Amino acid sequence: MLITKLDKHHQKADFDCGNEALNRFIRQQAGQLLKRNETVIYGAVDKDRLAGFYTLSACQIMQADDEALLKKQSPHSPIGCVLLGRLAVDKRYKGKGLGSDLLLHAMRTVRKLSHMMGLAFVIVDAKDDNAQAFYEKYGFRELTRCPKRLCYAVKDIPLG
Ligand SMILES: CC(C)(COP(=O)(O)OP(=O)(O)OC[C@H]1O[C@@H](n2cnc3c(N)ncnc32)[C@H](O)[C@@H]1OP(=O)(O)O)[C@@H](O)C(=O)NCCC(=O)NCCS
Repeated sequence: MLITKLDKHHQKADFDCGNEALNRFIRQQAGQLLKRNETVIYGAVDKDRLAGFYTLSACQIMQADDEALLKKQSPHSPIGCVLLGRLAVDKRYKGKGLGSDLLLHAMRTVRKLSHMMGLAFVIVDAKDDNAQAFYEKYGFRELTRCPKRLCYAVKDIPLG
């Protein structure tokens, strides 16, 4: 399946991942965020149908968010990161590996970006225990001072 940057001509109206907040985001709110350059959305497109998507935007964390995990980072300056803000797969495509394909695509996109600007971690905010378990399966670790906020070091993203 093709994973591509989404724009307004892609059909998003009948996307249904089972989570109303994520459905509302992609059906109604995404267009405005794209217009304001506040996020970039990558979608897996099956013919004309949107099967899954993820979003990327800039964010920062501080060493104090997890002093043990981030002990090699500067204690004084914000740490430049990418927020993998949303990741969702339409119900009709769940359980077929698309979620992991999108996550891998996101990590590779971040690695390429990290050659152009300082990016130390990929950050995700898991919306519940299930989402947290999904990310932990791929090596994300929760920041001790920020419940449900997980990180993955850009330097550890596998090549290939
Ligand atoms: C989480 C989500 C993206 C997974 O998509 P998917 O296409 O069904 O996942 P995959 O088929 O790629 O599964 C990959 C692996 O993750 C596992 N997995 C899937 N959902 C999981 C979950 N909620 N918790 C733990 N592991 C999970 C699968 O069992 C599979 O493991 P395996 O390779 O050992 O068989 C999808 O269920 C979804 O859109 N959920 C609603 C939105 C959401 O929670 N988004 C994430 C946080 S914002």
